[in-house]
Amino acid sequence: MENSIEQIQDDGLAELETAADGDAVNEITVKYLGRKGIVTRFLRNISQLPPEERPAAGKQANLAKKALEKAASRALERIAALEAAAVDQLDVSLPGRPTNQGTLHPVTRITNEICGIFARLGFDIAEGPEIETDYYNFEALNIPKNHPARDMQDTFYISDNVVLRTHTSPTQPRVMEKQQPPVRIVAPGKVYRCDSDLTHTPMFHQVEGLLVDRNISFGDLKGVLTTFVHQMFDKQTSLRFRPSFFPFTEPSAEVDILCVMCRGKGCRVCSRTGWLEVLGSGMVHPAVFENVGYDTSKYTGFAFGMGVERIAMLKYGVDDIRKFFENDLRFLRQFRT
Ligand code: DAH
Repeated sequence: MENSIEQIQDDGLAELETAADGDAVNEITVKYLGRKGIVTRFLRNISQLPPEERPAAGKQANLAKKALEKAASRALERIAALEAAAVDQLDVSLPGRPTNQGTLHPVTRITNEICGIFARLGFDIAEGPEIETDYYNFEALNIPKNHPARDMQDTFYISDNVVLRTHTSPTQPRVMEKQQPPVRIVAPGKVYRCDSDLTHTPMFHQVEGLLVDRNISFGDLKGVLTTFVHQMFDKQTSLRFRPSFFPFTEPSAEVDILCVMCRGKGCRVCSRTGWLEVLGSGMVHPAVFENVGYDTSKYTGFAFGMGVERIAMLKYGVDDIRKFFENDLRFLRQFRT
């Protein structure tokens, strides 16, 4: 017999340990344990040995067979683990995949811009709930029961006393109930009205403003809103305060700005008037102060409210408010910077 069975076993084990893939393991297994394999032949030749050597040789050969079988299955496991790890491996030589970068929605951007201007003037940001009670949405703001704004045509009622807020003004009494003057806040948020056409959507956004302190006059209101318009648009954008009516302010004024499209010449956007209405405002009505327990002999204040989409449409030249909410990426991607 050429090699000892121990030598054959050692050779086989060494080969299995370095086998690189499943095919190599199979080849080695056939080489040693196949029908014509080295170990098989060794077993077959045992009958030719002297009778006293046969039991020990048979035992050794069977041990070698078992050891090689075990080593073969271990080798297969090792190779499978290596292959699995290779799948997870990062190939740093591949070209990078471009990441799909999102952008802020134009309404979010304009909201941030509006709030940013007022924040730099010293206003805090306040927020209130979108599902609001009749009390804060109407009653506390001096809007009487028979006011047209309460009509089912305009207001989404959840129950008799709960509505989807129709404006951000309820944030005013909510803040004032919790805080004594001075108060300086802007309140951005979603509002809801049962309305839908080129310039109205059932959900839209407003920013409310409120400033209360001693000796606040209409002059302060004009100064703050003029600064706002000049920063939001430009210094050439003049303002016009037009007498108006809101139950929660007295006197009240609607603010128009010089048409940003035609600069006052008159065009389709400003209905040939040269002016665009952008916000409502006024001096806080004493009844509102009384509702929150403010001393009307000490304090005065002003308030204003504007539609964010309206400002966004003017700033970006968008003629249909519904475009903001159709989520057409071709539209939204234009506001990427
Ligand atoms: N809440 C009003 C609206 O939605 C806007 C408004 C007007 C707010 C005058 C005010 C204000 O604070 O003083 O039409």
